[in-house]
Amino acid sequence: MATGVRSPARARISARTLREDRWWLPPALTFIGLTAWVTYSTVRVFLQENYWVGEHHYLTPYYSPCFSDGCIPAASHFGQFLPDHPLIPYAALSLPLLLIFRLTCYYYRKAYYRAFWLSPPACAVAEPHGKYTGETRFPLIFQNIHRYTFYAAFVITLINTYDAILAFGGEDYSFGIGLGNLILVGNVIMLWFYTLSCHSCRHVTGGRLRNFSKHPIRYRWWTFVSRINTRHAQFAWITLGTLFVTDAYIMAVAAGWITDLRLIN
Ligand code: FES
Repeated sequence: MATGVRSPARARISARTLREDRWWLPPALTFIGLTAWVTYSTVRVFLQENYWVGEHHYLTPYYSPCFSDGCIPAASHFGQFLPDHPLIPYAALSLPLLLIFRLTCYYYRKAYYRAFWLSPPACAVAEPHGKYTGETRFPLIFQNIHRYTFYAAFVITLINTYDAILAFGGEDYSFGIGLGNLILVGNVIMLWFYTLSCHSCRHVTGGRLRNFSKHPIRYRWWTFVSRINTRHAQFAWITLGTLFVTDAYIMAVAAGWITDLRLIN
């Protein structure tokens, strides 16, 4: 394992790269996309308003579970025990776990190592750093926490699913379906695909087995997880999109900028 060594040997050329294609485009797009999403999300979680549509029981995932004393009581499905403070997001228990889950995700590592740290920015393009210490030392050794945050993300996705189901019953608990329901359900489905296609989930379902023949159920799960695992990067981006759309739609309805398009009741 190369620890604390100079960059591995590369061709002895003075040019940074001999590539003539637009190798810089994917990292540039990744940089723009992630920066935009993180900026929007940071602003939203500290806004502390327009996160709940009481009439239709829509709760944005950015505020779920809503544990703060400042939460609208109807939006707090699991109690309120966090102090109400402008610098403490209403979902301050789940957001850090989800942030760490995404930050340490194998796909996002690749994305931000390339787009933000240029380490390296693309194949056959020299990186600006002189040393490579890998993920075996501080601080990147903490990336190994990913396998534990998977369980937290699993529970939080369950909570998001609960929110989406609850939203089919409005203020008077009568059944109804609106565009918000479809958006919430679509988001939750995509969150499940992202969470279950996690590499750690693949290890949980099929790892450490000597043979699959004695574990047919785990084998089936592992087969399913392996299949969707090949699309993990797509789910990573799709869920950033569905989270944004879900939150923006609920914010717009809650603020009264638009009315929910009702399909049933
Ligand atoms: S590897 Fe991406 S969420 Fe686990």
